Amino acid sequence: MDMARYIGSKWRKTVAIRKNKYLTRFVPETARLTKTSLRRQLTRYRMVYVKPEYGRHGNGVMRVEKTSSGYRYQLGNTIRNFAAFDSLFKGITTATKRKRYLVQKGIHLLKHNGRFFDIRVMTQSPAPGKWVTTGMIGRVAAKRKIVTNYHNGGKIVTAERLLRPYTRKVSVKLALLSKLGVLAGRRMSAAFPGVRVIGLDVAIDKSLKPWLLEVNTAPDPYIFRKHPDPRIFRRIMRLARTYNR
Ligand SMILES: Nc1ncnc2c1ncn2[C@@H]1O[C@H](COP(=O)(O)OP(=O)(O)O)[C@@H](O)[C@H]1O
Ligand SMILES: [Mg+2]
Repeated sequence: MDMARYIGSKWRKTVAIRKNKYLTRFVPETARLTKTSLRRQLTRYRMVYVKPEYGRHGNGVMRVEKTSSGYRYQLGNTIRNFAAFDSLFKGITTATKRKRYLVQKGIHLLKHNGRFFDIRVMTQSPAPGKWVTTGMIGRVAAKRKIVTNYHNGGKIVTAERLLRPYTRKVSVKLALLSKLGVLAGRRMSAAFPGVRVIGLDVAIDKSLKPWLLEVNTAPDPYIFRKHPDPRIFRRIMRLARTYNR
């Protein structure tokens, strides 16, 4: 049983992270979902993600786009097209029921074999005030999926292998992600005392800029069993024992 503190609300976590001036530039614009916020973000970005405030495993996550002839959204494998914004919003409201959702600037993720991928950054606190990034690994979405989550058919591939086709500076990029993990960890424990582990979902765009999509406070350590270096998983589990007592 994981005794470290769990924070469910994606909204509260986003607000906490944005309080750090350096981190905020890596957080895509995020708002509570309303007709106004959706319209504003679609006008500004053309592609946005709509997700449940308390969602997990990629469930309920929608990709919403402005197209040449109107609008469309994808939820799971379902794609729906709409001629007008009002009918799009009605369609989304039907799909979201009465739950609370957020709308976030959509990041055009890099691809591996034609599938989207992002990077999970694992950062742990072995002692109060101390944070260390202990692992990074890539997650590749299943074919035609818009989420990379393992529980939605995502595959685990090393971050090095995923980024190598896009840059000669893979280790520089990964060093930045490692640092973002530590800064986010500090910010999270400042806002939510008791948080001792975070898993960042980091998107990388075409200019290789990282974007913090989500901060998980109960990240699955077991995906790191798939890392080719077994020391990574062992160290993650060893550190986890310091706060799972
Ligand atoms: N703003 C975004 N731009 C691009 N892809 C996104 C965005 N937000 C989420 N995703 C994709 O959806 C996945 C699930 O979203 P996330 O916010 O992590 O919620 P969950 O708690 O369900 O994992 C992400 O790992 C990523 O693949
Ligand atoms: Mg996630």
